[in-house]
Amino acid sequence: MTSMNPAPNLVLVGPMGAGKTSIGRRLAEHFALAFVDADREIEAQAGASIATIFECEGEAGFRARERATLARLLEGEGQLIATGGGAVLDAGTRTLLRTRGFVVHLQVSVDGQLQRLSRDRVRPLLQQGDREQILRDLAAARASLYADVADLVFDTEGLAAGDAARRLGEQLQAAWTRGAAA
Ligand code: S3P
Repeated sequence: MTSMNPAPNLVLVGPMGAGKTSIGRRLAEHFALAFVDADREIEAQAGASIATIFECEGEAGFRARERATLARLLEGEGQLIATGGGAVLDAGTRTLLRTRGFVVHLQVSVDGQLQRLSRDRVRPLLQQGDREQILRDLAAARASLYADVADLVFDTEGLAAGDAARRLGEQLQAAWTRGAAA
């Protein structure tokens, strides 16, 4: 199932540690789009960190905030939106992503994720035990959801953010038609 093209926004989806934020910042600059990190928007709106939201409201509370924030952001245009790894869990959000964005699925192996996230102490889902097992379970549960929204799949394995952004930018130049949604 593919998105609208032309699409008013570029959207990055994919698992934690795929490079959505670091690559997204550079890509936004390349295409002169406003960079928006959905997780940071959720935190600003809540006045609390994601870790605190998970603590106080549980994952369900966080997902409700995530859904509302993405719905608001996707009304806009000319943005590069870096989403959280679980943004695709909600069916309504998936529909919005497809209709309001050209969606790039950034891929990385679990080994690559473990390397990039080795110093992370804040992501709530990674503080609950065996990281490798957690990441494998999330990948298995979400693979079909990423595939469902993706217009383009890009493998970031072993690439520095600058190189990844340059190569992905070239592919998007050909693949993405910027403009209003149908
Ligand atoms: C999550 C990913 C995180 C953040 C939250 C939950 C997930 O975003 O939204 O910790 O469910 O995979 P990143 O993918 O930007 O790390």
